[in-house]
Amino acid sequence: MKVLIVGSGGREHAIAWKVAQSPKVDKIYCAPGNAGIEEFAECVPIKAMEFDKLVAFAKENEIDLTVIGMDDPLVGGVVDAFEAEGLRVFGPRKNAAILEGSKAFSKDLMKKYNIPTAAYENFDDAQAALEYLETAKFPIVLKADGLALGKGVLICNTLEEAKAGVKEIMEDKKFGSAGNTMVIEEFMTGREVSVLSYVDGKTIKPMTSAQDHKRAKDGDQGLNTGGMGTFSPSPFYTEEVDEFCKKYIYQATVDAMAAEGREFKGIIFFGLMLTADGPKVLEYNARFGDPEAQVVLPRMKTDIIDVFEACIDGTLDQVDLQFEDNAAVCVVLASDGYPVSYQKGFPIKGLESFKDKDGYYVFHAGTAKKDGQIVTNGGRVLGVVAKGEDLKKARANAYEAIKLVEFDNKYYRHDIGKAIDEA
Ligand code: AMP
Ligand code: GLY
Repeated sequence: MKVLIVGSGGREHAIAWKVAQSPKVDKIYCAPGNAGIEEFAECVPIKAMEFDKLVAFAKENEIDLTVIGMDDPLVGGVVDAFEAEGLRVFGPRKNAAILEGSKAFSKDLMKKYNIPTAAYENFDDAQAALEYLETAKFPIVLKADGLALGKGVLICNTLEEAKAGVKEIMEDKKFGSAGNTMVIEEFMTGREVSVLSYVDGKTIKPMTSAQDHKRAKDGDQGLNTGGMGTFSPSPFYTEEVDEFCKKYIYQATVDAMAAEGREFKGIIFFGLMLTADGPKVLEYNARFGDPEAQVVLPRMKTDIIDVFEACIDGTLDQVDLQFEDNAAVCVVLASDGYPVSYQKGFPIKGLESFKDKDGYYVFHAGTAKKDGQIVTNGGRVLGVVAKGEDLKKARANAYEAIKLVEFDNKYYRHDIGKAIDEA
């Protein structure tokens, strides 16, 4: 079969790599893809938001299955555009992708269906938000309602900070129309865990857990980024936590969406916080995490095409989803200065060392080809992933493996997976 993958980051590289493992797949295309994906997929210069071009390409090239990696096209209705032309596509429709596309929607859904989450209020008026803050407890969390590249969340320690935050989000429109509505919610403390899951509208199958490191600097200091590294599984995601989430969060979310007439098919990514009062939902995403996919997919044993097809056909209950009993760590190699400002265009050396190196992977995020050479082309450049029989070994392997790749201004965190020592 022929598969089209939509997206261009490390996540899409990991998806494309996993799809390429399936004996059912003859040809992979990726739109727009990147210099790493090019190794085993044909990259086509169509952007993720060019729905008409994507649909036309899928029709012309008789694509059997399209997989959407990114949030923007899902929230914008790319799945509906494919389905309208009778094309098979993996991902939630627009009316279900709202689970990620609107934080106000997802908070109201959780409240209505008693799914554990932080206490909150939604506001579409700055004055009302400011009045509410006068009697609020601090720290407090402000969230722009819509998609904001993971940057629309402000944790405010004082009333002054919070007032400035309301101004930024709702009046100055720092995150554009994503800030037309705002959620103000209770600040929670605890460990964060990401659980990605496959969903077919009725059945949900959670994948192995993972943890992301969002801050730019060691010790969780510095600015928020798209993610500087991940490990999987999370040792804090115990059987007890798993049982709780299965009972009160996962199926409850799928059933709530169905009850609202918003049948969800695709990936639900549960951003969880393990609080003293039990696990609570921080956020939902409607796609694989980046860089969570880079550590979860290499550990997945089941053929991903079978799982994608079962989600589309509503037969996920018949799939035996299996993961390896090991661990993986991903260290992101970034350009120094990310996420603020950085230089691009430096040649990358050593990528060939990963070819056929069992249990080691290098997934490209911001790379390009220039005069036949692969060069840096973004803030996050590569995700270097290593497996190991446990988390400590995987971490040691990953930090050994990053030495194989060199480029000017290479920057990375030294403490990815350090948290496991506290488990
Ligand atoms: P979100 O995009 O909603 O996942 O928020 C981004 C990050 O902000 C999360 O990964 C948390 O680290 C932090 N965060 C979000 N909501 C809260 C909250 N209610 N309490 C504490 N931290 C939060
Ligand atoms: N790593 C977090 C995300 O993909 O949103």
